[in-house]
Amino acid sequence: FKNKEVTVTFVKANGERIKAKGEIGNNILDIVVNNDLELDGYGACEGTLTCSTCHLIFSKDVFDNLPDKPTEEEIDMLDLAQERGPTSRLGCQIIMTEELDGIEVKVPATINDART
Ligand code: FES
Repeated sequence: FKNKEVTVTFVKANGERIKAKGEIGNNILDIVVNNDLELDGYGACEGTLTCSTCHLIFSKDVFDNLPDKPTEEEIDMLDLAQERGPTSRLGCQIIMTEELDGIEVKVPATINDART
């Protein structure tokens, strides 16, 4: 038995698009890790809500339909994220559902290349 497959497209600041597969129940950080995606510095705390490097920007549509509202801990971490916008969330806190299959997420530039 295999969980239903879902895809997420990561859109980097340089316009590069990376389409990655995951399963329902994965969080978005799991998908980055399991696919070995090249997002420099992404997910530094491994989903323990102590970094903010997993910051992603969603479209308004998707944002409004995310199944879980952010916890206070997530909001505290988001306050530390650069380029935070009204539709920002932390990828490690977003669990994929069937409805989220095929979403596109924007990866902020400050995560793409932390060395510059
Ligand atoms: Fe560190 Fe999400 S991976 S807060």
